[in-house]
Amino acid sequence: MLVKTPPMGFNTWNTFGHNISDSVIRETADAMVDLGYLDAGYEYLVIDDCWSERDRDPATDKIVPDKNKFPNGMKSVSDYVHSKGLKFGMYSCAGVRTCANFPGSFNHEYLDAKTFAEYGCDFLKYDYCNRPDVMGRHLYYRMGMALKNCGRDILFSACNWGSDNVHEWIRSSGAHMYRSTGDIFDSFQSFSDIALSQLDKFGYSAPGCFNDIDMLTCGMYNKGNVATGGCTTEEYIIEFALWCMLGAPLMLGCDIRNQNEAMHKLLTNRELIRINQDPECRPAFVPSRSSQKDMVLCKYLENDEFALGFFNLTEHKCTMFSYFEDIGITNESGCKVELTDVFTGNKTISSEYHMEFIEGHTCRVYRCKLVH
Ligand code: GLA
Repeated sequence: MLVKTPPMGFNTWNTFGHNISDSVIRETADAMVDLGYLDAGYEYLVIDDCWSERDRDPATDKIVPDKNKFPNGMKSVSDYVHSKGLKFGMYSCAGVRTCANFPGSFNHEYLDAKTFAEYGCDFLKYDYCNRPDVMGRHLYYRMGMALKNCGRDILFSACNWGSDNVHEWIRSSGAHMYRSTGDIFDSFQSFSDIALSQLDKFGYSAPGCFNDIDMLTCGMYNKGNVATGGCTTEEYIIEFALWCMLGAPLMLGCDIRNQNEAMHKLLTNRELIRINQDPECRPAFVPSRSSQKDMVLCKYLENDEFALGFFNLTEHKCTMFSYFEDIGITNESGCKVELTDVFTGNKTISSEYHMEFIEGHTCRVYRCKLVH
């Protein structure tokens, strides 16, 4: 199986948009390794839209890399990325043109899959703009089959923004992750709406194919291609913790070459990443007495542990409870819960319930186990 836990990596779109180049990719590859992102699990470096010339090569019908942005071609970039121990990702679209109006792969699926394989590509994001009037899912079956027959293992990252009840059929296409929502923008409203919209869909996300709620905006601070106001550091902590608790793919979208210490610490937080990458891949659930604004999430983990997240999405300080009865720990069990804070390592023991009194737009996350 190519994908056993949620994929992790970096994608150019959120920060760079059109402004991608050979040097941006090489510098990002260096940063992924030198700053410890690869060690933390981020292995895919993905070039999003805008990497090619506006038209295919008339002689070969192939998509060709933009000569100014990538003067050495894609194979050379890919070789560099691989030389750093990373995996190399690219982008195309199920329609005739990509979302930014470059050539798409419609009716060129097999040729393009082969071209990506020649580049040494390990990951293909496959978008949904400018498609002809063909049943959407059919376009993903096509590219899924083309990738399976291109001679190389390529992670297939479908991106149809949740259209056509994608969660119901996308696993059949061979996709390994699938975008389930519209595009993320750099604001609290955007990431929280996106995460909340998928709370009831993570039952469809499992080894083999994961629900992708888009690239993270953590660390963007209102700079780059999807800036719409930005977030505070505390809000980015909520975003990252939500993605981790939900078991969503972790694709970084900030400029990782220039992050402050708090963001670097957050994005490489081993305990949060361990929750995200838990091999059992169990979907988190919202216990019955929690609401969407002051939300508790519980996720069962391997080794009889579980994670509890307290997300205060209101603007006000509030008291939040997790009643252990709601997550299956009855009074008659005689069990208490040991909670280890994933940010500080502090341990507490609670019985019957755990209470948090926390500021608006902040969260707490614990790794937990029962004690008798
Ligand atoms: C769509 C996708 C984005 C990004 C852009 C590129 O909007 O959802 O993630 O790939 O296209 O044009």
